Amino acid sequence: MKKLLCACLAALALLPASCAQPVEPDISAYDTAGTAEIPVEILGELEEDVLEDLVEAPKYVALTFDDGPRADTTARLLDGLLERGAAATFFVIGEQIPGNEPLLLRMKAEGHQIGNHTYSHVRLLKAEKDAVVEEIHKTETLLKEVLGDSSFWLRPPYGLIGAERSKLIRTPMIYWSVDPEDWKLLNKDKVVAAVLGAVQPGDIILLHDFYSTSVDAALALVDALQAEGYDFVTVEELFRIQEVEPQAGVLYARPDRVRTWG
Ligand code: NI
Repeated sequence: MKKLLCACLAALALLPASCAQPVEPDISAYDTAGTAEIPVEILGELEEDVLEDLVEAPKYVALTFDDGPRADTTARLLDGLLERGAAATFFVIGEQIPGNEPLLLRMKAEGHQIGNHTYSHVRLLKAEKDAVVEEIHKTETLLKEVLGDSSFWLRPPYGLIGAERSKLIRTPMIYWSVDPEDWKLLNKDKVVAAVLGAVQPGDIILLHDFYSTSVDAALALVDALQAEGYDFVTVEELFRIQEVEPQAGVLYARPDRVRTWG
């Protein structure tokens, strides 16, 4: 800066010409061997930091389970999730709650999210509007009796609800982005392969804790994906992590993808 100012003033003939003479940089004060190495070292460290960040960047995924709770299979699933430190989300059917209240309390105590899958697993798309409200309200009431006041997000059975009936829903609605059709495969290895072939960070995986093969598959998936650096979080946490504010009456395939009515 000083040199530049000096050169400009010299050009204006306000200073002696000597001031404008090019000055050879004095490098004697520097250890040239050292200066050659320092930038490489810094660059190396930076690259390593960036690399570390990339390697350690958490990958989040949400396991969701429909159609429970079911005493034997759900309890075994909860045991396995607890052992592995994995959270999940359970969309429960209202008529299966009586007798399974301890399972709901366990889910809550162990950090899982609990949602509403209607009272009797009806097709909301075709149901009368009164029935839609009743199916959801009955399950919500049962959930509140056991778990206290909370917002229980809805997963419409079969993922079907439609634009008209979605206007009746006062919570966010959760579809899925990975569906291995575990209820049809009923085979642990095939379900695991189907999920591993499709899963991406931020996905919502659909499974059913109603089937023993699905519980086996879920626990094998947690092991496989944790080894790949995935963290298992609830759907609610997935929204929070992605900084998406979920809206009531909107059906989400993932926090960043709304399911359209088609
Ligand atoms: Ni279902």
